[in-house]
Amino acid sequence: GKIRRFKWEVKYELKSPDCFEKLVITINGQFPGPTIKAQQGDTIIVELKNSFMTENVVVHWHGIRQIGTPWFDGVEGVTQCPILPGEVFTYQFVVDRPGTYMYHSHYGMQRESGLIGMIRVSPPSTEPEPFTYDYDWSLLLTDWYHKGMSEKATGLASIPFKWVGEPQSLMIQGRGRFNCTNNLMTPQRSEAEVCNASHADCSRLVLTVIPGKTYRLRIGSLTSLSALSFQIEGHNLTVVEADGHYVEPFTVRNLFIYSGETYSVLLKADQNPSRNYWITTSIVSRPEKTPPATAVLNYHPNHPRKHPPTPASSNFRPAWNDTRHRLAQSVAIKARKGFLHAPPENSDKVIVLLNTQSKVNGYMRCYDIFAVPSNANATMSDGIYRLKFNSTVDVVLQNANTMSVNNSETHPWHLHGHDFWVLGYGEGKFNESNDPKRYNLVDPIMKNTVAVQPYGWTALRFRADNPGVWAFHCHIESHFFMGMRIVFESGIDRVANLPSSIMGCGQAKR
Ligand code: C2O
Ligand code: CU
Repeated sequence: GKIRRFKWEVKYELKSPDCFEKLVITINGQFPGPTIKAQQGDTIIVELKNSFMTENVVVHWHGIRQIGTPWFDGVEGVTQCPILPGEVFTYQFVVDRPGTYMYHSHYGMQRESGLIGMIRVSPPSTEPEPFTYDYDWSLLLTDWYHKGMSEKATGLASIPFKWVGEPQSLMIQGRGRFNCTNNLMTPQRSEAEVCNASHADCSRLVLTVIPGKTYRLRIGSLTSLSALSFQIEGHNLTVVEADGHYVEPFTVRNLFIYSGETYSVLLKADQNPSRNYWITTSIVSRPEKTPPATAVLNYHPNHPRKHPPTPASSNFRPAWNDTRHRLAQSVAIKARKGFLHAPPENSDKVIVLLNTQSKVNGYMRCYDIFAVPSNANATMSDGIYRLKFNSTVDVVLQNANTMSVNNSETHPWHLHGHDFWVLGYGEGKFNESNDPKRYNLVDPIMKNTVAVQPYGWTALRFRADNPGVWAFHCHIESHFFMGMRIVFESGIDRVANLPSSIMGCGQAKR
């Protein structure tokens, strides 16, 4: 493979990605960050300069397994010490499989300030993909808060607990449109000072298509809270890839996507070419308090700024609490024929993770993971699960009620360093003796992120065959921050000498 070198400088800049001005993290001045394009087998070298004035940083390469380089997984406190302001840190790893991946900060709640981007890996020219298209595009979906991360993180770690609330905007490829005249959501600075509806940063994204052509859209979600539905007015989307694995193609009108997931869909420009169409993304799984983000599908040669004749709100989307509709999509995702990797028939260990909430010493966030909890309702640990190297592990994510009555949330769980087979989903309480009999061991999709629906369960299986320490966590930024995370450790005796660059803090310092 080739060596692909990048020099990145990360810093904060005042930008108005949803027309509201706030501090946004940029990479070489760009938000979202540059898309890394590579071919299977290439080595990626990123020299990252931390140009923040006061904050540390790390970058995680989401979906890249880091085989042989677990120390470059980019998880602060798990795989490396943070990069201090003014420092340069070099990540170096191999992209060993084709597909659509992402990168983002993994330091505190910094991801939601904008340190995000996509990674596209193409297969070797001798192994063509099992589908064809004329153009290849990436669309990163995010939600967006006007408060900074420290303010939100402090609220989550305080008594009384202060929830982050719903995001102010949704964004497609870093562009949203906050309604500047809506005072309710605007903090006290004068509006004109901070919100400018005609700012160039928040001009609507336009995707221009040539009638008859086929487009591959690589859609990734790095929302901090929201689960999304993505749709293009009047057009079918054919799902062909999920988290770097080929999917047996199926067609949807609404693509449901959870934080941490990527999908490739094929879009054929096969509708009436005399007009433009709305592209929208909207919130599902929580009451919809944030308006959809919009972009325009522009049929050449119509003017790109020509408004579609319909209101954007006419784009069909299911009700926010229509869990079954979403579950149906998850269940429909199967590995593509000809690309099946069957899972081991049995597992060596089953871990059931209850997804709920408790208070620890009155705090909703585990503020000190080493303290003995005085609250009898909750226990704490360092969250490390030691797995026998090469063993097969099942994880059953069992959802439950939160601390509010009649409330259970959707949690997208993401595993570092491995892909897992998605064996099954169910509603209600997992039944150890019956439910495993219904596992799909024939053509389960492999993924790195999977959702567990309210009051439901999701079962997954993986081989602990990648030596290292690997985070496994809810990809909702505030849930992760509040403690919804564990670490799998396996085969660490096989990990080669650690580079000294990862060890500059705490007990690792030398
Ligand atoms: Cu994309 Cu540990 O996360
Ligand atoms: Cu969660």
